[in-house]
Amino acid sequence: MKNQLKTSINRRTFVKNGLTAAGAATVGAGMLAHSSSALGQKGPEEHSGRLTKGDAAILRFLAAAEILETDLWQQYNELGGIQDSEVPGGSGSVLYTAALAVLDADMAQYIHDNTEDELTHEVFINAFLASKGADTVNLDEFRTLASSKATGAQQIGRLTNLMQLTVDTSWWTRYRSGSKNPDFGDSFDQAVPSLNVGQHPAIPKTDDDLTPDDHIQAIANTAGFHFGTIEQGGTSLYPSLAQRVTDPDVLRIVLSIGPTEAMHFQTWSDKAGNARPLTDPKDSSLVFPDLNSPPFGGEEFQTNLIMPEPTIFLSRKLPACSIVRPTATKGAAMGAANFLTAMGLFIGQSSAFFELLRDLAEDADDAKRGHG
Ligand SMILES: [Fe+2]
Ligand SMILES: [Fe+2]
Repeated sequence: MKNQLKTSINRRTFVKNGLTAAGAATVGAGMLAHSSSALGQKGPEEHSGRLTKGDAAILRFLAAAEILETDLWQQYNELGGIQDSEVPGGSGSVLYTAALAVLDADMAQYIHDNTEDELTHEVFINAFLASKGADTVNLDEFRTLASSKATGAQQIGRLTNLMQLTVDTSWWTRYRSGSKNPDFGDSFDQAVPSLNVGQHPAIPKTDDDLTPDDHIQAIANTAGFHFGTIEQGGTSLYPSLAQRVTDPDVLRIVLSIGPTEAMHFQTWSDKAGNARPLTDPKDSSLVFPDLNSPPFGGEEFQTNLIMPEPTIFLSRKLPACSIVRPTATKGAAMGAANFLTAMGLFIGQSSAFFELLRDLAEDADDAKRGHG
């Protein structure tokens, strides 16, 4: 299985380099599921079916992103959400769930609903690809990372790692700035500077992480900011890629899923502000500041400023506008892949995984509107 996968990835690399792939048509099962059973007739790249090559590539990258999102949200739901027939698996961690509830009494419900949403995004995009005769994405081969050993988590292989995160919390000030925009090259201060360095668990690794109170609260606070970090990424990714899709149905899909990511982000942006200020007693380098007091506070940090501040958009000559940011389309898929990788989400994954992720992102970023 591993060798077949490697062959397949190497084949695609050859194609990209312009060398002939004739005769190298063996396809690794597991990486890309073929809607056609005629594997012997496979062309040099994935099948796009009745979609343009670019549309299929964008949807495949989004399917992969949604599969990865589902995997991480599933881990949150098992320990801190609501385990039911809609989102089965796990049995909950009482103390982790209680620590999350400090951010909002309904956190478990929101975690459940976010998890269910991602699952439907993943399943829908793949089903749409298949309905058009295009190849779909299946990452099951890479479900190799360890589960949390804390009581409540399923012991199954995972795609993502929530126990060694470096969380970029600059979305907090990015959405509160009235004069800067990442699409203009601007950078933004961290809300929780210490989360953006080192490696931090966002779920309890074992039951030892459940005490003392401020330690499990630090883990829940980390999750609270990570939720916003993940969902602001989706909020930018969809409009960024929408600019390069061709088919009206594909445009409708990305324009309809993208705003649900923004609904998630808006919720988490509100809840993160309720993270209790503290220093992690088991890691004194991890400090959650009081965002309403100096040196924080003011327009850039105040916790009730949860809606986007109007800022520069497209041109400095145009008036300020309340917008999602960033939305530049060039390299957006690779940017998302790099962003997820940099946060440590894939620590422990194989080189084949990273190669596939890069490959899917490259193909999505090659897509051009109106081109076959
Ligand atoms: Fe999603
Ligand atoms: Fe999402």
